[in-house]
Amino acid sequence: MGQGIRKAVFPAAGLGTRFLPATKASPKEMLPIVDKPLIQYGVEEAVECGIDQFIIITGKNKRAIEDHFDTAAELEEKLRNSGKDAMLDEITRLNTIDFAYIRQRVALGLGHAIFCAEPFVGQEPFAVILSDDVIDPDFKVLKEMIELYEKVKSPVVAIQEVPRAETKRYGIIDGEIENGAIRIKGMVEKPDPNNAPSNLAIIGRYILTPDIFDVLKKQEPGKGGEIQLTDALISLMSQRPIYGYKIKGGRYDAGDKLGYLMATVDFALKNSELSDPFRKFLDKRICG
Ligand code: UTP
Repeated sequence: MGQGIRKAVFPAAGLGTRFLPATKASPKEMLPIVDKPLIQYGVEEAVECGIDQFIIITGKNKRAIEDHFDTAAELEEKLRNSGKDAMLDEITRLNTIDFAYIRQRVALGLGHAIFCAEPFVGQEPFAVILSDDVIDPDFKVLKEMIELYEKVKSPVVAIQEVPRAETKRYGIIDGEIENGAIRIKGMVEKPDPNNAPSNLAIIGRYILTPDIFDVLKKQEPGKGGEIQLTDALISLMSQRPIYGYKIKGGRYDAGDKLGYLMATVDFALKNSELSDPFRKFLDKRICG
């Protein structure tokens, strides 16, 4: 067994154009699903896997993320004095975690954002979490990806089947099943449905190895003029195998308005306080 995965990188410097105008001056990562911002779901997922070093790649208009994970002394004092212990526990639960913040000066793409993390990641494998891909905590996606990484000791990317018409929103893979995982043979960034090698899309969870940085350093801009992680993974594939872990469900593209609404409805229906009245409301709305 190796040292395990201890570090997680959260690229959060994207412009969030699909969610304008909400994301004009506020981070997409701070949009709440019920009562928690998107990025907190991602952080809690990593904590569950024993990850204890957190690196957030930020950019302009993203300062609210730092404030969210900071101590809120005045608020804590007020909750303590008014006996609101449950709420106090809730807002201090992540207080023991240290976060490192690196600013991506220009949004040059996901690959570039990950490259910015190199000084903090160093020479060890690490997780990448795109927090606008929200994953239901009942699906232990990251945990199972780490288990697969421990077996194959090579990069692992999360894969989901998507409708053919949607291939142009994702990196799409070509691969075959090997030892219960997908051994990836090829990848294309955002292909047209007619040219897509499959309908298996890469979604926002990765276990990467530090050799990705050598590739990213030399990576030329690709689709959309951005430094694409998919292109870097294609280059890396000529040096070592890359595996896909096919998720069983529970993923929402909350960076997209419809995906965000779906996540909100499903998480509200699972929330012990809201479930009954919200279900009644929905029944009335839909069934009249
Ligand atoms: P997206 O493709 O979702 O881009 O990026 P975006 O800019 O956030 O949103 P849209 O598509 O314009 O609505 C995938 C992930 O990569 C990060 C984003 O923050 C998101 O987590 N990212 C993207 C960066 O950190 N830097 C970049 O230059 C680009």
